[in-house]
Amino acid sequence: MAARPLIFRLPPEGAHKIAETALGIPGIWNTFRLANGIRDDRLALNLAGIKLPTPVGMAAGFDKDCKVLGSVLNLGFGFVTGGTVTLASRPGNPKPRVIRLPDQQAVLNSMGFPGQGLEPAIRRLKKSQKYRDRVLVSIAGTIEDEIFECLRSTQSLVAGIELNISSPNTSGLRIFHEPARLRGLIEGLVAEKQVPLFVKLPPWPRDDESRRELLKLAETAVDAGVDGLVIANTHPIENSRLKVGRGGLSGAPLFEHTELMIADTQALVQGQVEIIACGGVTTAEQVWQLLAKGASAVQLYTSFIYEGPGLPARINKRLTKLMNMAGVTKISDISGEPPTVE
Ligand SMILES: Cc1cc2nc3c(=O)[nH]c(=O)nc-3n(C[C@H](O)[C@H](O)[C@H](O)COP(=O)(O)O)c2cc1C
Repeated sequence: MAARPLIFRLPPEGAHKIAETALGIPGIWNTFRLANGIRDDRLALNLAGIKLPTPVGMAAGFDKDCKVLGSVLNLGFGFVTGGTVTLASRPGNPKPRVIRLPDQQAVLNSMGFPGQGLEPAIRRLKKSQKYRDRVLVSIAGTIEDEIFECLRSTQSLVAGIELNISSPNTSGLRIFHEPARLRGLIEGLVAEKQVPLFVKLPPWPRDDESRRELLKLAETAVDAGVDGLVIANTHPIENSRLKVGRGGLSGAPLFEHTELMIADTQALVQGQVEIIACGGVTTAEQVWQLLAKGASAVQLYTSFIYEGPGLPARINKRLTKLMNMAGVTKISDISGEPPTVE
């Protein structure tokens, strides 16, 4: 069996710190700009008015405190969601709260929003204004006022806002799974927003009563005026290796289900709003499949942990190749199955 890279011998949160420290040295990652595959105009798209060079974004949770947004973009991501940022700093849940499942290319986490809070995030967003046009910020809170405060103080610094009501690790967020409460919150945010607003939903199971309830949330969010939906957050799961006993599953095992959820969502929204697909994406073929099912863009996180910093460039280049093979010149024209490339 091939030896695992050294970084996988470290505990996950330690490895993440090292990755973050390395990404904090912008000089190294600036050089990725030369070959990150985003120069091809065919990959460009317009996401609710946000112009992006490729539909592949880094999902929320990787850069919780908005420390390395520019470096992440230089790797070849079309956009990056910083956060989730909360009004006050939070310690998060007790450790262990991140477990790697390398055989499945998956991760379990019960982080519970550890973060430095709004003020440091604002300071760093101000310093990253050069990248503003491709940065979203994910915000959350357990009462409306906290969320409004996060929107008001970050929206002039970013291209869009991602409202997170879907972390399985923060029970207080579930109050917004009540449609009337979610509607009130979103209508209030829509009245104040100056940039596109996306809502990140929890995943729904396939054959279950809660599927209808969760699709109802999507419908409510669209009726209340959001510009897009992020489908979806991690899948809730019980596991005794996590200190708190349960958390969210992410990575490869999610992909098939993400595809089904995108089809469900597109059937519901019929193109009225943008759909950002998130969950288990690792390859350009998978990006193609999700775009073909109705997503406008995708986000990934866990595959980046396993595949490393070259992943977004590889996906961009291969997606361009697939488009060439199929004679497709625009991201929005992608349909059907991806062509087979040797
Ligand atoms: C360690 C970890 C931390 C995360 N933190 C957040 C977060 O703060 N906010 C959020 O909206 N999603 C968070 N997520 C969920 C991801 O953004 C994404 O929805 C999920 O991992 C599925 O995508 P993936 O399979 O590509 O990782 C986190 C995921 C992981 C693995």
